[in-house]
Amino acid sequence: MEVDQVKRKFLKYVLGGSLTALAAMILYPIIAYLKPPKTKSAEVSSVKIGKVNEIPNDSSIMFRFGTKPGILVKTQSGEFRAFEATCTHLDCTVQFKQDIGVIWCACHNGKFDLNGRNISGPPPRPLTPYKVIIQGEDIFVSKIL
Ligand code: FES
Repeated sequence: MEVDQVKRKFLKYVLGGSLTALAAMILYPIIAYLKPPKTKSAEVSSVKIGKVNEIPNDSSIMFRFGTKPGILVKTQSGEFRAFEATCTHLDCTVQFKQDIGVIWCACHNGKFDLNGRNISGPPPRPLTPYKVIIQGEDIFVSKIL
């Protein structure tokens, strides 16, 4: 009688342990597959955009700053302004609208002046500015710290 109880207990432990190990072997790869991998986004401090004489006055170019889109505007007077090109309303990408002289968001007709200030439509805040650095003919953009 006593020996049967001990055997039964031992078998319970072995069976329970095996089932737990089997469940872990099945679930671990599934969970690892479903969980997105941690990717380190490269920290960017400045980006070379192009050459001063390549960009005509009263125009703009788009660029990437790390993982985000950026917009560089050259005003009618030849000044450079750069901003994160993500609308402060719902994150659509903005563009320079030369005919009305504003940075425009097509999603909900949001408008920003060339200083990045939100001037009409739903955007609640100005665009995030970048610092424009001219070195010789090269244009660099960096974060404002
Ligand atoms: S996302 Fe730009 S105005 Fe709505």
